[in-house]
Amino acid sequence: MEVVIVKNPDDVAVHAAKRIVEFMIKKPDVVLGLATGNTPIALYERLVAIYNEGKLSFQDATTFNLDEYIGIEPSNPQSYRSFMNTHLFEKVDIAQSRTHVPECPPGENPRVIGDAYEQKITAVGGIDLQILGIGSNGHIGFNEPYSSLASRTRVKTLTQQTVADNNRLFASGEFQPQLAITMGIATILEARHILLLATGKQKASCIRKAIEGPVSAMCPASALQMHRYTTVILDEDAASELKESDYYRWVNLKHESLVDEYGYFHND
Ligand code: PGA
Repeated sequence: MEVVIVKNPDDVAVHAAKRIVEFMIKKPDVVLGLATGNTPIALYERLVAIYNEGKLSFQDATTFNLDEYIGIEPSNPQSYRSFMNTHLFEKVDIAQSRTHVPECPPGENPRVIGDAYEQKITAVGGIDLQILGIGSNGHIGFNEPYSSLASRTRVKTLTQQTVADNNRLFASGEFQPQLAITMGIATILEARHILLLATGKQKASCIRKAIEGPVSAMCPASALQMHRYTTVILDEDAASELKESDYYRWVNLKHESLVDEYGYFHND
């Protein structure tokens, strides 16, 4: 695992955008795995700005979002489809037909939808680069604690903590979903590269467990320790409970000289 600690949330977005742009320049037909939530908004703003400068195109890119609520229509402004349209898809040159969100309309069987989503990912050759946030309980996607580390795209019941964390986004009296369809942990681990972003003190504890704790279904993000090419980009607040942060900084200094010497290099 590569752990990069930068000063603040803006720097997290700048650093993540740089990684993604470098990747997309090398592989314009990239298959991106995308995340919603507060954390990636600044990243999407940055990618849109780079696109507006004419330095990036999504024309040949394909995207798969991690998750979607069950019980609200894609056109509902609270849906993750709407989130993606607002923050990225409508602002860049990506064809809507190449953007995928695991939507489960009323009356459809979520198991069938989940299997079909997996097949669509396989059919395009798998995800090249997966963007992740992390829940304060350690979830990735909506793989809540105790999710099987071998799980695939399926329905999950959100924990009360996740419902409470997301409550700020819903008006009082507005329907707030308690179920979601999410890529599984095994689905995520099949992505060839993973970039996990976290900012703020409220993520410090789950980041410590994910990076320095044991691999455990109690902290789904800890499964990323089993993934060869994962980079975690943190601001100082999110990194504040890490015991080995001096070592991660030292590794990154060495990393720069290794990149100079050998070209692409990853601290796996
Ligand atoms: P957040 O959510 O970016 O809004 O903190 C992250 C997540 O729950 O995965």
